[in-house]
Amino acid sequence: MSATSKINIRSAAFKNNQQSYSGMLATLRERMAWAVRGGGDKLVQRHIARGKLPVRERIDLLLDVGSPFLEIAPLAGWGLYNNEVPSAGAVAGIGIVEGQHCMVIANDATVKGGSFFKETVRKHVRAQEIALQNRLPCLYLVDCGGAFLPEQDQVFPDWGHFGTTFFNQCRMSAEGLPQLSAVFGGCTAGGAYIPALSDEAIIVEGTGRIHLGGPPIVKAAINEVVDGETLGGAGMHTRVSGVTDYLAADEHQALAKLRQIVRHLNMPAAASPPPRDVLPPRFDAEEIPGIVGTDLKQPYDVREVLIRLVDDSELQEFKPEYGATLVCATAHLHGRPVGILANNGVLFSESSVKGAHFIELCNQRNIPLLFLQNITGFMVGTEAERGGIAKHSAKLVYAMATARVPRLTVLIGGSYGAGNYGMCGRGFAPNFLFAWPNSRIATMSPEVATTVLTELRKGSLKGAGNEAEMAADLSNIARETTEQFTRQSDPYYATARLWDDGIIEPTQTRDVLGLCLQLLAQATPRATGPSPVFRM
Ligand code: COA
Repeated sequence: MSATSKINIRSAAFKNNQQSYSGMLATLRERMAWAVRGGGDKLVQRHIARGKLPVRERIDLLLDVGSPFLEIAPLAGWGLYNNEVPSAGAVAGIGIVEGQHCMVIANDATVKGGSFFKETVRKHVRAQEIALQNRLPCLYLVDCGGAFLPEQDQVFPDWGHFGTTFFNQCRMSAEGLPQLSAVFGGCTAGGAYIPALSDEAIIVEGTGRIHLGGPPIVKAAINEVVDGETLGGAGMHTRVSGVTDYLAADEHQALAKLRQIVRHLNMPAAASPPPRDVLPPRFDAEEIPGIVGTDLKQPYDVREVLIRLVDDSELQEFKPEYGATLVCATAHLHGRPVGILANNGVLFSESSVKGAHFIELCNQRNIPLLFLQNITGFMVGTEAERGGIAKHSAKLVYAMATARVPRLTVLIGGSYGAGNYGMCGRGFAPNFLFAWPNSRIATMSPEVATTVLTELRKGSLKGAGNEAEMAADLSNIARETTEQFTRQSDPYYATARLWDDGIIEPTQTRDVLGLCLQLLAQATPRATGPSPVFRM
């Protein structure tokens, strides 16, 4: 049955939505321009004057002509460190090299010498996680001063910090996932271990350097005075120490060598073609902003979004008459099967159980899951509690958490409270998680949080102090809470801290998900083994 749409693109509501959303898109594009600007004109010019290429140009030269590049968290670092660490000083993403999907992790030396901030480490580790899950070789374009020393307690000692990046390198290599480095600049301490722990390493003559301790550290530690080139230059490392395997005369040659190594990796061929012909949706994704708008309180039928994302706009909806606030449907996207769970209101017991049942079906049929979150949470209140909402919502959480098929999540609206959990938030390790610019993520909305906290304070103030002081105190709490929750639920607050893999535009969503499904199809063997038991 072919899909129909009830959207009137000439209505005032549609036009208002579209207009307000276009403001959000303008903001996103502005911030993406910030992300690619590097460490500012002066440092970029110095970098180029040294004969070095900007980090994104290196990546362009490395990838096959026409390759897509799915960049991970380009807005990491947004709003942090006075906005002086664009992209958290590193670019990571998936592209195609010699026909092979690869994870590229590249330092931007124009941002504090390519040193690692907390968000840089998170991005590096996250990129490695994605590489491991999707069995991608890792190509490191190294230009890195190690830990950003003023923040050393945030990047050095703990699990998930710098050490984990090296742990991952060793483990991935041991699992047969090539770890390859090309060294373009001064690599000190942690920066030196990236090539040193790679399976093969290339270094650029003149600019590439590797040393565990640079000249100042050597002077301080053993009172030896030595210049950087003698200590860790490209010629020395390729001809004397053997730390690097190939000497490149310039950056172009280094990138060509890296491509040549990938050409000879003898990795399995890329993903098989999709099982179905790829059919575009019958409805235009450009209309999505006019449907969803920017006001999360404004309801809409999420099917209107789905038919603008999936092949031929065809949805096989499961239990359409039951648990209507969770739309569950199988469909194809870029020719590959996908099982979609999309919020259409608050989650009740019925919708939760329906979701759990649908996940079991997708598991059985080896269909990857896609969660589209627009959710305030599970239903609260006496009736819901007596009906066992805690137990029924747990079934959805359990089924989602134990699903053996890959899981993708996109925040297309609110992502609040346990709704975030049940719909496969970051804590449940979806294979990829993206957000739209209109999304919001927090334990609860600013309005609800303000009510909760002022009510709690009212309780503790009872009988204490005079009325005027109490009123002032409550109004302070209300103001501060509203401000805090508004600021912290902003999607840029989230993406800056790598709570997601990036903010994407609604019109990019189909292609991004199509690429993810392609990667996951090549990575994931068919699920086997016994089915999990749900708590009933
Ligand atoms: N921690 C803090 N700041 C660092 C840094 C680090 N690890 N590495 C570089 N920087 C800063 C520099 O202080 C400078 O900041 P400024 O512009 O605010 O003055 C900026 O990054 C650029 O560094 P600069 O030395 O001018 O760049 P370069 O391209 O000539 O050299 C390096 C780059 C990485 C080779 C060089 O900066 C270096 O060796 N850094 C020290 C590395 C180190 O000792 N790391 C130990 C980590 S455990």
